[in-house]
Amino acid sequence: MSVFKLAFPKINLAGFGAIEELISVISANHGDAQGLLICDPAMMKLGFANKLLESKLNLALFDQVKPNPDTNTVKEVLACFDAYQAQYLIGFGGGSAIDTSKAIRILSKNEGPIARFNGVDKVEQLGCPLYAINTTAGTAAEVTSNAVITDTETHVKHVIISDKIIPDVSVNDPSVMLGIPADVTAATGIDALTHAIESYVSVGAHALTDYISLESIRLIAKYLPQAVDNGKDELAREKMAQGQFIAGLSFNSAGLGMVHAMAHPGGAHKDLPHGVCNAILLPIVCEFNRPYRVEKFAKVAAAMGVDTSAMSDEQASVAAIDAINALNKRVGIPAGFGELGVTEADVRSWVDDALADPCAGGNPHPMTHDQVTQLYLKSL
Ligand SMILES: [Fe+2]
Repeated sequence: MSVFKLAFPKINLAGFGAIEELISVISANHGDAQGLLICDPAMMKLGFANKLLESKLNLALFDQVKPNPDTNTVKEVLACFDAYQAQYLIGFGGGSAIDTSKAIRILSKNEGPIARFNGVDKVEQLGCPLYAINTTAGTAAEVTSNAVITDTETHVKHVIISDKIIPDVSVNDPSVMLGIPADVTAATGIDALTHAIESYVSVGAHALTDYISLESIRLIAKYLPQAVDNGKDELAREKMAQGQFIAGLSFNSAGLGMVHAMAHPGGAHKDLPHGVCNAILLPIVCEFNRPYRVEKFAKVAAAMGVDTSAMSDEQASVAAIDAINALNKRVGIPAGFGELGVTEADVRSWVDDALADPCAGGNPHPMTHDQVTQLYLKSL
C-alpha cells in the first residue's frame, strides 16, 4: 500500500465574487509588481478578463493560449514572461490556460525544455507564484499538481506531475462560467465526472477521497443536464463548479486511471477535446473495471440517482454503467470516436502511449496491450 498524500492549494476561493476576492489577495501579496495574465482568446471575447485588466493590478497579457497547449505555445508565453520580467502568473481559463501557466511557473526557475519535466516529481525548484482562475467546470487544473503539454515534434503529451505546480490560490467563480457554450459545458462536465469516478475506484483511493468523490458524482449527475440546457442557470453553474472542484481535490490525491490514460493520445494525435475523449471512454473502461469494484460501482449508481434499493450490488454496479451512458446521451456526447473521424488504425497506434501514461497506474486492475486495443475498438 502506498502512503496517501493530500495536496491542494493553500487558499481556495469559491462562489460568485471570488475573482474580486482574488484581486485583493494578489494586491496584498504583490502590490503593483508586474504580473502576467495568461488566457485564451475566448476569455477576451466574452469580456471576462476585463475584471482583472481593469483592476488595480499591474498586468501584462498573453491571450493566445490554444486548446491542447503545446511546446510552441509554452515557448511564446515564456518569451512574454521574460520580456515583461513578470513576478507572478495568473492562469485564467480551462485546463489549457492553467496548464500553460504551470509550465511557465516551472520555467521561471528551472532550465527547460519543458519535456524534461515529464513524469512524477521532476521539477527541482519552486517557480514564481501562480494564481489559477477556473472558467470551466471540468479539468480542475486550478487545484491539481498536473499539467499536460503536447510535444509539437513527437505528438506525445507530456504529463507533468509535481507538487511544485499546484497553484498558490485556486478560484472557482461561477460568474465566468455562465457564458460557456453547451457542448463545452457537457464535455468538461463529463471530464469532471470522470475525475470523480476514476478517483473513487482508483488503487490510491482513501476514506476522505471516497467521500468527496461520491458527493461530486451526485452533484454532477444532478446539475450537469441543467447547466447544459440553460447556461445562465446560476444554481446549476454553482453546483457544477463545486462538483468539479471537489473531484479535483479527490483525484489530485487518489489518482486517475485508464480512462484518462486512453484519452490523452486522442488529444495529442488528433487534437480532440479532452472531455469528449474521456466521455466516450468512461462507460467502456468502467465496464472493464466494474468486476474489480462491484460495491463501489453500486454506490456510483445510487449517487447518480438510480434507485438501487431493490438491487443486489452486482445489479446496481451494472446500472451505474447504464446511468453513465444515459447521461452522456442526455448531454449530447458523440456516441463514439468514429463520429470524430478517428479510424481503427488511429486507435491501434494509441495503445502504447496509453499504457505508458502516468494515469494508467491508478486503474483498479492493470490492462494488457490486447485489452486496451479491444476497448479502443469498442470506442469507435
Ligand atoms: Fe481530465
